Amino acid sequence: MAHPVFTQQVFSTPQAVAEAAARMLVDEAGGATAEHPRHVALSGGSTPKAMYEVLRQQHANDAKALRLLHYWWGDERSVPNGHEDSNVKLAAEGFLKPLAIPAPHQHPPDGGASDLAAEADRLTRELAEAVPMNEQGVPVFDLIFLGMGGDGHTASLFPGTVALERSEPGFVANEVPQLGTWRLTLTYPVLNAAKKVVVLCTGAGKAGVVRDIFGRGDEAPVYPIEGLRGKNVVWLLDEGAAGA
Ligand code: 6PG
Repeated sequence: MAHPVFTQQVFSTPQAVAEAAARMLVDEAGGATAEHPRHVALSGGSTPKAMYEVLRQQHANDAKALRLLHYWWGDERSVPNGHEDSNVKLAAEGFLKPLAIPAPHQHPPDGGASDLAAEADRLTRELAEAVPMNEQGVPVFDLIFLGMGGDGHTASLFPGTVALERSEPGFVANEVPQLGTWRLTLTYPVLNAAKKVVVLCTGAGKAGVVRDIFGRGDEAPVYPIEGLRGKNVVWLLDEGAAGA
C-alpha cells in the first residue's frame, strides 16, 4: 500500500525487526566522527527492548562507533530514571551501560523532576546547544526511533492532548488524562525536521491501525502518528503488524 509520506519494510518476526533497527543505528554510527558526532533519539515502551538486546549481544564490536553518537529520547514518562517504567532506564540497561557509551553523549530527560515544564525547557535548551539547527531554528536529528501505541500515538503525542498543538521545536510536558499522568515529549517540528525517522511497530494488535494509516487515501488523518511529515519516515513492521 503506497503512502504519500511513509515507506514500510516488513520482516518475518519482531526479532528480525530488532536486528534491522540495530543495524540502522550501527550504520548511522559509521558516519559519525569525534569532530562531527551524530544525534539519535531513542523511543520507549516495550518494542525497543529487543533492539537494545541485539545491540548488547551482537554489536559489542561496534561499540567504538556507537560511542560517537549522542543519545536523546523522544519521550519519557514522569518517573525517575531508575524507575522500571523509565524509557531512559530501558536504554541504559539495554545497551548504553553495557557498551560503555560515555555519559556526555547521553542526554536523558529527568522524568522525576518536580517541575516537568521546567525540565522540558532545560531539555529544549540542551537540544538547542548541542544539535545543529535548520534555517527555521529547529534542531535536526540524524535519526529518530519512534514506536506506535494501539491508539496511534507516537512519542508521548497522545490523541486529544495539548502537545499535539504545540509548535515550538523542543520538549514539552504533556498531560495525558487517558493515562492519568504527565509525560515529556518532543514536539512535531523536531520529529519532522529529522533526516530519518524509523517507526518500530510489531504485533498483530497494531495491524488494524497500520492498515488504516497505509490505506489512508485523501481522507483526513486520524492518529497522532500521522502527524509525521518528515522527508524520510520508514516503518519497520513484522508480519503481525503488517497484517501479512
Ligand atoms: C512510551 C513510548 C511510546 C511507545 C508506544 C509503543 O513511552 O511508551 O515512547 O510512544 O513507543 O506506546 O509502545 P510499545 O512498544 O510498548 O508497544
